[in-house]
Amino acid sequence: MTQDELKQAVARAAIDYVVDGTIIGVGTGSTANFFIDELGKIKQRIKGAVASSEATAARLKSHGIAVFDLNDVDSMPVYIDGADEITAQGAMIKGGGAALTREKIVASVAERFVCIADGSKLVNMLGKFPLPVEVIPMAHAAVARQLSALGGEARLRMKDGKPLMTDNGCVIIDVSGLQIADPGAMEARINNIVGVVTVGLFALRGADVALLGTAEGVKRMAFA
Ligand code: A5P
Repeated sequence: MTQDELKQAVARAAIDYVVDGTIIGVGTGSTANFFIDELGKIKQRIKGAVASSEATAARLKSHGIAVFDLNDVDSMPVYIDGADEITAQGAMIKGGGAALTREKIVASVAERFVCIADGSKLVNMLGKFPLPVEVIPMAHAAVARQLSALGGEARLRMKDGKPLMTDNGCVIIDVSGLQIADPGAMEARINNIVGVVTVGLFALRGADVALLGTAEGVKRMAFA
């Protein structure tokens, strides 16, 4: 199976977690896109969705799915999104698509986080994938120095020769070379750096369920 077929398989499996008549939190990225396409097929069963990025909002709307402002939503049974890395304990690195802040906000409102990914995303230790950190633009050099002091190499993410701008008007620093043995402690530490908006570690509030696409089928992991 190709990686896209594995992503499609978990996107289909995630439909089992959709609660009828409710608003669904929807992530960002290629796996989330496959999920949106599946959601489009059962859109009459749901009230709508909250999007974690402008790109996701546009794709949801293209399927005729109502997109709600998070401020108008009191509760959400489930948030469904991909990950760049996930551990057997449900801690994740996210933000390869630069949507980490809105992803973390929408996920924080949901009762359950369902991570959908191809099996290659399962790792023993987080950190091989460069850790994305969203930062206030005027602080990026100062924050990069503090992130480098953690033992990694901090680099401003660029696009078309300019710093990539997030949906929130901020920039992303990617930190490579970290070996994240205690993801919760690292998340708290980086959250505490002045100028950081969000760190792409989802450990203090990790996944509740992971659906991983493998050649043998979709593997389900549940985390207490
Ligand atoms: C977006 O900012 C990310 O958090 C994505 O969820 C993550 O990068 C996974 O993306 P893919 O599904 O494209 O691998």
